[in-house]
Amino acid sequence: MNNNIKNEINDLKKEKNAIILAHNYQPKEVQEIADFLGDSLELCIKASQLDDKDIIIFCGVDFMGETAFILNPDKKIIIPDLDADCPMAHMTTGEEVKVAKKKHPDAAVCLYVNSLADAKQYADTLCTSSNVVKVIESLDEDEILFGPDNNLGEYVSSKTFKKIIPITDEGYCYVHKKFTVQDIETKRKEHPDVEVICHPECDKVVQDKCDKVMSTGGMINYILDSDKNDFVLGTEIDIASRINLLNPDKNIIPLRDDAICDSMKIITLEKIRDSLKNEEPLIKLPDEIAKKSLKAVNHMLDASKN
Ligand code: 13P
Ligand code: SF4
Repeated sequence: MNNNIKNEINDLKKEKNAIILAHNYQPKEVQEIADFLGDSLELCIKASQLDDKDIIIFCGVDFMGETAFILNPDKKIIIPDLDADCPMAHMTTGEEVKVAKKKHPDAAVCLYVNSLADAKQYADTLCTSSNVVKVIESLDEDEILFGPDNNLGEYVSSKTFKKIIPITDEGYCYVHKKFTVQDIETKRKEHPDVEVICHPECDKVVQDKCDKVMSTGGMINYILDSDKNDFVLGTEIDIASRINLLNPDKNIIPLRDDAICDSMKIITLEKIRDSLKNEEPLIKLPDEIAKKSLKAVNHMLDASKN
């Protein structure tokens, strides 16, 4: 059954000159048919290099599709199910950024890429968890308004002398919020010599108890380069699918089995096939918002090169 759908997807992809991009948290069967897999930054860079494609199927969540649209306003950007939204991305609105800017007129605005274009249009730059320190250091200003992820904000605060000012009091990822210090203690007892790595979207107390804090792309590179095979990872469970596609010998132990991003899981092979067939649902943004947001996206891409 899956093989039939996979063949249909591959035929449609050729016929329509389409490419399938997928995030490291996508279900295994989606990762298997993707042309390109990556963390948020790698996907953003890839989306900026797709002049030769007519259709981009983005297997991820809303803000990722919007960013691909900002970079490619003339292409058809499709998320196979528009209900795939990132709750964190909705936690800082454009209005909240405007209010914060008025309160801190000398501060630059850096938004986590996990934000909607409604907010991105007022940002000076964006960041992901893999380039956040580089991006913040690239700014001339010493005060930085930051959102929506206040855990990532706290993480970068500890790595820079710049003053990081949260735009809103509450901004978090509900998946990474689940991890506790108790989870780490339990896993360390079960697997005494195994390194524990978590994502900077985890709470600071959890980050402090881990051996390393890394983006999903950072974890993948680190683990593939390591001589060791066993790792406990404090992030979304399907990171294991990505790592095992690259090296089946790696034994990825999830810090919690219920660290599941529901929105990432609603993308299925059937929905990918149907969206290719029907060329919908399309991601669209008003011209003005897309143009204004492009400035911040490009600033981040430039800062990531250095
Ligand atoms: P990265 O893939 O950039 O580490 O981000 C994690 C995430 O939660 C994406 O939504
Ligand atoms: Fe958003 Fe968290 Fe899901 Fe990433 S894992 S898409 S931050 S809800």
